[in-house]
Amino acid sequence: MIRIGVIGTGVMGADHARLLGSVVAGAALTAVYDLDAHRAAAVAGTVPGTRVFADAIALIRADTVDAVLVASSDSTHEEFVLASIAAGKPVLCEKPLAPTPEGCQRIVDAERAAGRRLVSVGFMRRYDPGYATLKSTVDSGALGAPLLLHCVHRNPSAPAGLPSAMPILGSAVHEIDIARWLLGEEFVAATVHTPRRSRSAGRTQDPQLLVLETASGVLVDIEVFVNARYGYEVRCELVGEDATVSLDTPAATQLRRDSFVGRVLPQDWLPRFGEAYRRELQDWVDGLRTDGVPRGATAWDGYVATVVAQACVAALESGTRQPVKLD
Ligand code: NAI
Repeated sequence: MIRIGVIGTGVMGADHARLLGSVVAGAALTAVYDLDAHRAAAVAGTVPGTRVFADAIALIRADTVDAVLVASSDSTHEEFVLASIAAGKPVLCEKPLAPTPEGCQRIVDAERAAGRRLVSVGFMRRYDPGYATLKSTVDSGALGAPLLLHCVHRNPSAPAGLPSAMPILGSAVHEIDIARWLLGEEFVAATVHTPRRSRSAGRTQDPQLLVLETASGVLVDIEVFVNARYGYEVRCELVGEDATVSLDTPAATQLRRDSFVGRVLPQDWLPRFGEAYRRELQDWVDGLRTDGVPRGATAWDGYVATVVAQACVAALESGTRQPVKLD
């Protein structure tokens, strides 16, 4: 049994705690901490035997905690991941690994100095059944060489005043990671186009169109639109020399009514990627139980995603094509 402590029990942390406490085989939720003690207590109350800690570092060091899951706000990730590495404990960190390339680099360096893999990053789309099929199709060679990848990422609404960098750093970063994973190569440059703003967007530049270039010349375009109103939707189509393959919103049911046929869309990511979150945590725990090695996206993957996302932010702010420079 792997005993896990969760830091940050907001939307994501509460859902991860639920999965670890009652769904993931071989896992036990033993500890939670949140700056908001009421939130932590509410989550602990749903899983008997879970202790609420008053301090994140004490949770990381506790002898009742074998591994740590970090789901607190982005700016706190680096501190808690570094403390987990220092304690010699595996840590699964929600994306982003850290908001800056320098922060990610410090984590990569600390893990390397520790001499073994400890860090995983919550790029859960790698566990989504749809993306997994897409990946095996690409890898089978059935498409021929990949040429273009078209991606769409839409949320129904975003908080008023959301900084224009956030649709990239918070949302499109998932496409950045999954495109690298699907194509198996790195990006070399980024450009961001800014169409007319939606009337729902306030001061946020929304939507945005990111164009990323890979080392071999594949073009990846990502529409990110966080005030799309109608629902939460993630789609993509990979165009190859011989065929194309696309990912749509999965739906078990269709509604037929009043001369209309259609599928019901979720309002956010939790229902859309529920199975991916479950598989991600199960695979992480399975790795720790079988050979003590965590699985999932690595610290290096987290570093690259942040570098590429920050290159996109620089492209947005400058209006120019930006190189992607990996250390
Ligand atoms: P949230 O705002 O619902 O929860 C964040 C929690 O962190 C809050 O309860 C807050 O009190 C707590 N917190 C803030 N500072 C803290 C500190 N110093 N120590 C302990 N707790 C602290 O946010 P949400 O949506 O749950 O996001 C959490 C993380 O998950 C973020 O890093 C976000 O980028 C990531 N995320 C990942 C998604 C995915 O699909 N993989 C989807 C949504 C968010």
